Amino acid sequence: MINIVVFASGNGSNALNIRAYFKNHSLIHFSEIYCNKENAGIVGKSKDLGIPIRVFNRQEWTDGLVLDELKNKKIEYIILAGFLWKVPTEIIDAYQNRILNIHPSLLPKYGGKGMYGEHVHEAVLKNNENESGITIHLVNDEYDKGKVLFREIIKIEPEETGASLAEKIHKLEHEHFPQVIENYILSNED
Ligand code: GAR
Repeated sequence: MINIVVFASGNGSNALNIRAYFKNHSLIHFSEIYCNKENAGIVGKSKDLGIPIRVFNRQEWTDGLVLDELKNKKIEYIILAGFLWKVPTEIIDAYQNRILNIHPSLLPKYGGKGMYGEHVHEAVLKNNENESGITIHLVNDEYDKGKVLFREIIKIEPEETGASLAEKIHKLEHEHFPQVIENYILSNED
């Protein structure tokens, strides 16, 4: 089995959706959720659903403890799904081409530091864009600049609000992210 973990910082709807998709998968094993915020929505939800979750702090992240743990647990791929801390170079080096992230805009537009969740949607609407979408990409040393694996575009309606756009984007993410992960991992392992 190929072990994967999902990192999340907030509600974790993508993390739960990915977990559901891989629950009975014959080749890919969803090991655990990693979360950097004790009070994030995903922490309570995971506990209620009996999904293993590891909450870690900034020091464990930057001192290499999380990396050691991932290696000991034989984790092969890291999925970032609404995870808001920058990934340390040591982890990027240890997991070259094995860290995937989802971003709620059409990168390179509206990417970079501070661009997450509703901030992205507000900026898109403020600029009167007529389309937005999702980007799934590999993670490298620069925020939101790794190789793009998948993009999907949606139209922005005249009456669009941040909330309605967030809802549409989440729907797209749930529809595509698990399959993109699966296709990428399986083609990489061939
Ligand atoms: C998702 O829309 C994801 O694309 C975004 O955070 C949301 C998390 O939702 N990620 C970023 O903005 C990364 N820069 P979720 O917690 O319900 O999965």
